Amino acid sequence: MTIEEFRLQCEKALEACRKESLEVDSLDTLNAFKGRHLGKKSALTGFYQGMRDLSPEEKKTFGQILSDLKTAMTEIYEERLKAIDEQILLAKMAKRKVDITLPGFHSERGTLHPYFKTVREIVDFFVGLGFTVADGPEVETDENNFERVNIPKDHPARDMQDSFSIADGWILRSHTSAVQSRVMKAMEGKEPVKILCPGKVYRRDNDATHSHQFGQIEGLVIAREATFANLLELLTKLLRHLFGEKRAVRFRPSFFPFTEPSIEADISCFECNGKGCSFCKHTGWIEILGAGMVHPNVLRINGYDESLCQGFAFGLGIDRIAMLKYGIDDIKKLYLDDVDFLAQFRKE
Ligand code: DAH
Repeated sequence: MTIEEFRLQCEKALEACRKESLEVDSLDTLNAFKGRHLGKKSALTGFYQGMRDLSPEEKKTFGQILSDLKTAMTEIYEERLKAIDEQILLAKMAKRKVDITLPGFHSERGTLHPYFKTVREIVDFFVGLGFTVADGPEVETDENNFERVNIPKDHPARDMQDSFSIADGWILRSHTSAVQSRVMKAMEGKEPVKILCPGKVYRRDNDATHSHQFGQIEGLVIAREATFANLLELLTKLLRHLFGEKRAVRFRPSFFPFTEPSIEADISCFECNGKGCSFCKHTGWIEILGAGMVHPNVLRINGYDESLCQGFAFGLGIDRIAMLKYGIDDIKKLYLDDVDFLAQFRKE
């Protein structure tokens, strides 16, 4: 074969390769194409095998032409490979298409529950005045809940707090006053005592403003110089802090077994400003809390010398204050986890 004939054959083979390459449209057809033009049974390999019988001189010239052919065919193959890879990638991307015009996911910001907002506000107020927070169990002894706060067995005051009995001598505490005796016992007659105790209490109650479970905050101060005037000033400051500086505050005599004298505190109605409306039952006043000077019996029962020190205590209902502050008409709303209701309290 002359060199010209060989060159022509090579050109034909390259032409066929180029033409067929146009039909390659997948990895499968590409592999078959590679086998046909660069594989063992290809014209190219045939040409290489034919070279064996040539003289060294011919090998050189024929070899050059052959090597150019191989390079050209390999380039065609690689070009197609790149194109197919790109096609595959584009197809994958088309499948996983992201619509950037869709609205994104929005996660709602939560908020502190109105009940705990109220707790925090009151606790912060007292902590600022040097009070510390004390804790007690919700399952309490009859002794701590009643006897040690001067409510002996058969005392009629027990009827006002119809409690849940757990076992003989054990109840669900009916008021946070039970923590008073725990704190006094722990202090072993030492003063000053200046504590605040927020927590859950339980009573057999059920209407729009009462529930079987509610929150109270108990306050207890014992010191040689803790006076009734201190108590009145403290409560006036607290109520104005909670309900506004313009609120009038009044104290009425009352009765609690654990205090003597006992009082209840009212604020002027914030709906009618004291004129009288349905909200305040036409009295102009809204009842807020109970308080008084710690009864000498309570001091004595709990290890204090009533001739050396005195003290005052107060108790307020968290739910009631939250309801008044935020205009909530049913106590159950505080427990129902109704997201629409709670969303109203999102950060002002
Ligand atoms: N324990 C009372 C109640 O549950 C509230 C109370 C009134 C607590 C007067 C006090 C107090 O400490 O001095 O109704």
